[in-house]
Amino acid sequence: MRFLEADAAGFVADVPVDIASCCGATWIGGGPVGTAALLARSLKPGGLVLLGDVYWREVPPGPEAVRGCGVERVEDFPTLPGLVDDLLAAGWDLVEMVHADEHSWDRYVAAQWLNLRRFIDAHPDDEIVPHLRTELAEAPGRYVRYQRRYLGWGVFVLMRRT
Ligand SMILES: C[S@@+](CC[C@H](N)C(=O)[O-])C[C@H]1O[C@@H](n2cnc3c(N)ncnc32)[C@H](O)[C@@H]1O
Repeated sequence: MRFLEADAAGFVADVPVDIASCCGATWIGGGPVGTAALLARSLKPGGLVLLGDVYWREVPPGPEAVRGCGVERVEDFPTLPGLVDDLLAAGWDLVEMVHADEHSWDRYVAAQWLNLRRFIDAHPDDEIVPHLRTELAEAPGRYVRYQRRYLGWGVFVLMRRT
C-alpha cells in the first residue's frame, strides 16, 4: 500500500486498480456521478467503484432543520432514490450498498465529541479551545434534533454497465 497526500480532484492512478474509492468527498468530482466517472478513469475493466455519500433519509420539514444538518438548501443533498437513480442513469450497475442507521451514526459522532473533550482537557490553553468548547456545547443538540433523523449515509458499490 502506498499513501499519497494530494488533491484528489482530477487524480488518475498511474496503474489501473481493482477498486477505486471515494468515501466522503464527492465534491472532488462535482457530485456522486462526476466522482464515479473520475474514479472510473483509474479502474481496471470489471473493477469496482466504492462511493460513500450523504443523502436525506427523510427530507427535513423546513429551513431550520436543513441548517441544523449543516447545509443551507434542501437541494444540497439528494434523496436516496434520487441518488440511486442518478447513478443508474449514468451507466452504473449498483451491486452492493451499506447504510448508516441511527446507531452507527451515534458511534461516528459521539467518538468526535469524546475526542473534542479529551483535546480540551489536554490542551486548555490552545487557541482553538474556545471554538471547540462552543462546538461541544452545541453539536450534540443539533445532532439529536436534526442530523440523527434526517441525514443518511451510504457506501455504494458500482460496476460499469456492460
Ligand atoms: C468527510 S471526510 C471523510 C473521511 C473518511 N473517508 C471517512 O469516511 O471517515 C472527507 C475527507 O476528504 C479530504 N478531502 C477533502 N477534499 C479533498 C481533496 N480535494 N483531495 C483529497 N482529499 C480531500 C478531507 O481532508 C477529509 O479527510
